Amino acid sequence: MPCLAQQQSEAHDSSQDEVLTLLKIRTPKSGTSADCDNDRMMACTAAPKPPELWVFTYTELRAATRNFSRSHLLGEGGFGCVYRANLKRTNRSGTHIIEEVAVKQLNKNGQQGHKEWLSEVHFLGMVEHPNVVRLVGYCAEDNDRGMQRLLVYEFMPNKSLEYHLFPKGPAVISWEQRLNIMLGAARGLAYLHEEINGIQVIFRDFKTSNILLDKDFTPKLSDFGLARQGPELGESHVTTVVVGTQGYAAPEYISTGHLTSKSDVWSFGVVLLEMLAGRRSVERNRPKNEQQLLEWMKPYLKGQRKIESFVDEKLEGRFSLIQAERIAALALQCLNKSARVRPLMSEVVEKLKEIVKLAENGNIEVNALPCSNIRRDEASMEGTRDTMQSKKGQFRQRVKRLTCKVDKRQWLRAWTPIKAVHA
Ligand SMILES: Nc1ncnc2c1ncn2[C@@H]1O[C@H](COP(=O)(O)OP(=O)(O)OP(=O)(O)O)[C@@H](O)[C@H]1O
Ligand SMILES: [Mg+2]
Repeated sequence: MPCLAQQQSEAHDSSQDEVLTLLKIRTPKSGTSADCDNDRMMACTAAPKPPELWVFTYTELRAATRNFSRSHLLGEGGFGCVYRANLKRTNRSGTHIIEEVAVKQLNKNGQQGHKEWLSEVHFLGMVEHPNVVRLVGYCAEDNDRGMQRLLVYEFMPNKSLEYHLFPKGPAVISWEQRLNIMLGAARGLAYLHEEINGIQVIFRDFKTSNILLDKDFTPKLSDFGLARQGPELGESHVTTVVVGTQGYAAPEYISTGHLTSKSDVWSFGVVLLEMLAGRRSVERNRPKNEQQLLEWMKPYLKGQRKIESFVDEKLEGRFSLIQAERIAALALQCLNKSARVRPLMSEVVEKLKEIVKLAENGNIEVNALPCSNIRRDEASMEGTRDTMQSKKGQFRQRVKRLTCKVDKRQWLRAWTPIKAVHA
């Protein structure tokens, strides 16, 4: 049977000692050099009460995943394969539970993988939020089969935002669902940046595949392998080696290795545009000028084309024009080259709440025309929209457009394309 991390009394190996130390002792340390990532990761100060964390044996997890069978495979990422499993446990009050979980098995690629595993246990083991995936437990065994490092998460039945935004089949995630998912993801980031007692957590790998969806499509951030503790009081940034995913990392982080929470805000801006356009930030199979999402959207930024011609065609016009414009404007604020000027994630949450409310108030229409029609006849679209809107709505939209223009000019001055990120 698995046991609780805090209660474990049997003999365990050095990795488990390392984890237990992380969970129990959080003393501040100093130093910001790029070489001491691990030290800083362990240097968390006061943190909230850690949730129940279970220690599983390799044998238990192997049995639960039917010897890591392909029929249980959920997918594979940079860390390793993820399997679905049912685990039987007895909780603190003695009740037997069968929980559906996802088991991530680390590729046996040495120290780097171990460091990411440790980072996940460390950060996920101490945070608790409706928009952050719950770590159920872990396994760390060094046996004759080698180094076994596994993580056990709550199971997320609706896969990831990536799966729904870039589907292989015809299923399309609605505009409303997209907005709610982005609002939840923003809340998750705001919690990590601003709401944990005593520390700031920088996620460092915000992208659509790391936004998982539960049975109600509530988004939860996953993959804390690259997460870092933010700068200490009086420091402006943390210096690190540059890691992350190409197309999502902030330009100043790529060029200097200086990491701040505003790097996550940049990545959030990229994902906002991906959500709007239904395109990945980098798509190598497209014509050269369309491969980089930000490059492709330049005609909109220069005011040469309207936002509706960049909205995901898969929505077939079922989106709100005002909301799309507001989302684009918010994305541009997040993508400001000057990190200082980018909004805090708590401000992004407030703006997204307002945008979501626009639909609830019923003062906007949904574009019933397919996107191809919108492109061919933008003028008639304007006419249709105008007749459908109240005078109050028209005025609000004009004010909105002015705001958008300011943002666009600011963004064009500031933006330079990302070349490469070292993995
Ligand atoms: N808790 C979970 N519940 C259900 N499915 C999950 C869970 N965690 C991960 N998955 C699925 O497992 C697959 C691999 O996830 P993983 O996070 O390892 O890689 P990734 O996010 O696709 O890529 P990267 O390694 O770049 O983060 C994905 O399809 C993901 O949706
Ligand atoms: Mg992932």
